[in-house]
Amino acid sequence: MIEITTLSELTIDGKLSLGPKASSKDLFDFYGDDLRAWFHAQRALNDAIMVGSGTVVSDDPELTVRHAPGPNPLRVIPSSRAKLPLDAKLLNDGVPTLVAVSRMAEHADVAALAAKPNVDVLTCGERSVDLVALMDILEGRGVKTMIVEGGSRLLHSLHQVGLVNRIIIKHIPVITGSMQAPSYMHPYEPGDAFDLTRWRLVECFSKSGVAVTIYEPMTVRA
Ligand SMILES: NC(=O)c1ccc[n+]([C@@H]2O[C@H](COP(=O)([O-])OP(=O)(O)OC[C@H]3O[C@@H](n4cnc5c(N)ncnc54)[C@H](OP(=O)(O)O)[C@@H]3O)[C@@H](O)[C@H]2O)c1
Repeated sequence: MIEITTLSELTIDGKLSLGPKASSKDLFDFYGDDLRAWFHAQRALNDAIMVGSGTVVSDDPELTVRHAPGPNPLRVIPSSRAKLPLDAKLLNDGVPTLVAVSRMAEHADVAALAAKPNVDVLTCGERSVDLVALMDILEGRGVKTMIVEGGSRLLHSLHQVGLVNRIIIKHIPVITGSMQAPSYMHPYEPGDAFDLTRWRLVECFSKSGVAVTIYEPMTVRA
């Protein structure tokens, strides 16, 4: 099993960004270089890094290791319909990216992604990307550890299938006041639900005024 760590920035009011259309990168303004270096070092510790297609659209992230020494993890993006913006940074910077699509993706969209240098496309799932099957395939390709940096729908789906081994939260000391800003988790499909899970605090520290908490499961679900 791939060991999966989620790493998120969460405001006091439990939001992942300052507003419904805002990039979570705005939250970077509320902390300093010491925390930035620490979280880039967390990326470098992992074989792969994943965000959902929604985050690629809203944030246009690079998902590379820039503020700490270490290698770039393989970038993995679940995008059921292969409708990623073709000018997204992570499709054009020459660093390897794997896009996982479902059988709903149209051939032309898959071909446009696959035509990009260093972009690999993998079909995995019928209507949406089957995350369990995707992890099996990645494990077969040598991925042992993965860091997942959101957003809400991807986090919800990963928790729903019990794939998360560690949760890291950077507690950004702001209140957004935005009811519409995305919360930590949001169902991908209506009715997606799961039972209560309990987590144990294993580490807690602060850097540049931001508390960082790290949790591991109290029990591991089968
Ligand atoms: N604060 C933070 O740490 C942080 C980090 C990242 C993002 N964010 C914020 O989170 C928001 C984006 O969240 P989001 O929920 O819209 O997007 P997301 O979770 O990044 O991506 C969700 C999308 O991934 C695709 N997907 C494919 N297979 C999936 C599966 N099995 N389960 C779930 N998703 C699957 C779906 O799109 P298709 O149907 O098109 O495939 C789905 O809509 C933005 O506001 C961003 O700024 C915050």
